[in-house]
Amino acid sequence: MSLIMEQQNINSNFTTVLAIRAAQVEDMLEQLLDQRLRSGEIARPERLMAAIRHGVLNGGKRLRPFLVMEAAALFNADEQAACRVAAALECIHCYSLVHDDLPAMDDDDLRRGQPTVHKAFDEAAAILAGDGLLTYAFDIIASDETELDVSARLQLVRALARAAGIGGMVGGQALDLMAETKKPDESGIITLQAMKTGALMRFACEAGAIIGKASDEDRERLAEFGSAIGLAFQLADDLLDITSDAATMGKATGKDDKAGKATLVSMHGVEWTRKQLSGLVEQAQSLLAPFEERALILQEAALFIAERKS
Ligand code: IPE
Ligand code: IPE
Ligand code: MG
Ligand code: MG
Ligand code: MG
Repeated sequence: MSLIMEQQNINSNFTTVLAIRAAQVEDMLEQLLDQRLRSGEIARPERLMAAIRHGVLNGGKRLRPFLVMEAAALFNADEQAACRVAAALECIHCYSLVHDDLPAMDDDDLRRGQPTVHKAFDEAAAILAGDGLLTYAFDIIASDETELDVSARLQLVRALARAAGIGGMVGGQALDLMAETKKPDESGIITLQAMKTGALMRFACEAGAIIGKASDEDRERLAEFGSAIGLAFQLADDLLDITSDAATMGKATGKDDKAGKATLVSMHGVEWTRKQLSGLVEQAQSLLAPFEERALILQEAALFIAERKS
């Protein structure tokens, strides 16, 4: 097979599986975010639910849910349980985007090709939608409807709290904002990216191993894979901020430069970044080598993340 055909083949396999996983998690999110009261809830205010649904059910790539489900499939885990954990993680990711777009943070009007939540509603609604999604994520995982034993659910809750919280995504967002006034050095940028983006990607892959009751060694292997592709993902995001446009990305571009944000791309340039990306793909792929062809789709995902166009 020629190299080009091989490449096309890889893309089509990956694209098909991504679409299947996205549809599964979309269904799950639709159900979880309906108006039906769950036990203990007093009311689901309609406007709050509308703001939440605007921030979630709006055509994201659903890459993190895909990673949870494909990592879980590697260990023959229960698909329904994996889908619920995937949906919980997507709730946290969407909350992070809703808050990231607020005027006090990146002040963006466009997300996933639509007005951001604070534009479509108002700032208070966007703050509360984010708060609601963050809390709901832990509800979803801890719930008896997530048919995993109590120990697995507890491990997931703790790992997700650590990935999303002070020492993870939230901390990374704080460092990212500080980087606009005091430029970090290279290792500072790597740390902030590992936190703001890498931590949730790492969790996505590690979660699959927890759901699938993998050995400690395999769990660590998946987590490391997640870290490598997380770094690649943010590098690609920073690259696309320079090389792409709003119509393709569904969000504003050219913003990092305008904000004076230090990124590895602004530090080293586009060519260096592309080389770095291929190095990260190789590193990620070699981590999954022991799983042989069972990890083919995840291997392809690493390549897609580095070479993505949106
Ligand atoms: C955007 O994430 C935010 C970053 C961490 C760079 P995605 O590119 O995965 O956004 P959606 O979910 O597809 O909209
Ligand atoms: C956002 O990083 C990361 C999180 C939301 C945690 P960016 O600010 O670069 O993401 P975009 O470019 O707005 O999607
Ligand atoms: Mg930001
Ligand atoms: Mg932003
Ligand atoms: Mg960005």
